[in-house]
Amino acid sequence: MLVYFSVSRKLRIMTKLLILTDIHITEAGQTIIGLDPLARLQSVLSAAVEAHPDAAFVLMMGDLTHHGTSTQYARLREVLETCPIPVLLMIGNHDRRAAFRAAFPDTPATDKGFVQQVVDFPHHRLILLDSHDGGDHPDGFRSGILSPERLAWLDGALAGCGDRMPIVACHHPPFSVGLPGMDAIRLQNEEALLSRLADHGAYLLFGHIHRTISGTAKGVGWSSFKSPCHQAPIDFVTADSGLSIDEPGGYGIALLDRPTQITIHHVDVGLETTTMSDRTSQ
Ligand SMILES: [Fe+2]
Repeated sequence: MLVYFSVSRKLRIMTKLLILTDIHITEAGQTIIGLDPLARLQSVLSAAVEAHPDAAFVLMMGDLTHHGTSTQYARLREVLETCPIPVLLMIGNHDRRAAFRAAFPDTPATDKGFVQQVVDFPHHRLILLDSHDGGDHPDGFRSGILSPERLAWLDGALAGCGDRMPIVACHHPPFSVGLPGMDAIRLQNEEALLSRLADHGAYLLFGHIHRTISGTAKGVGWSSFKSPCHQAPIDFVTADSGLSIDEPGGYGIALLDRPTQITIHHVDVGLETTTMSDRTSQ
């Protein structure tokens, strides 16, 4: 069964999407490289919502929690209940599907229980995938997979795009990005996803890496997004999936106002900034 809904609210500019990924909520008092993921989420989410109250949705692309416990999901839910913009949730390798679904029973899922859904915009179809490998991993550092059931569901979602441009969001990237630690835990059956995206002219959004990166693969354009909390360092040598660095957190903005086009912006949060015109100094 294909789960989907269309953007139908009125009096909104309905073509802007705010993108947060890799939230990694911990237990209270627990930090990651000295950073509090919940405080970082609050800071980034409130900055995003305040700057873009006209956004149609906030998309959170997985690794919502650090260990997938019910208390971590409860802490996340408390923050999301204050968000005035509807939130679309995905899961990543650090999540646990059963605990997530118990905490967020209203999140659409396929009849097989995968956390996947379709959201139609006027010119685009957003397809959210569940690339969790199904294991129960205490450390969370795991590659992803799209099982035959999930790929069949994706085929149906892509086939139903009509005139809409497909945008596919998947926590794990289906290729290497040059960071050996993260490349080792990318999507396992990468060709299965990438060939489908190429065949349908889809654009790909992903998280997992904790870094702002973009490129094309097999003709498929893609963007990845930094975390609100900890980031991956630029290290093209070390094969350690746990390498993290304290750089500003951030979020992305996808503009979906033009047919056959997607435009992505990235915003850092926490830097002291003042907007000025450099014309005043000339
Ligand atoms: Fe992550």
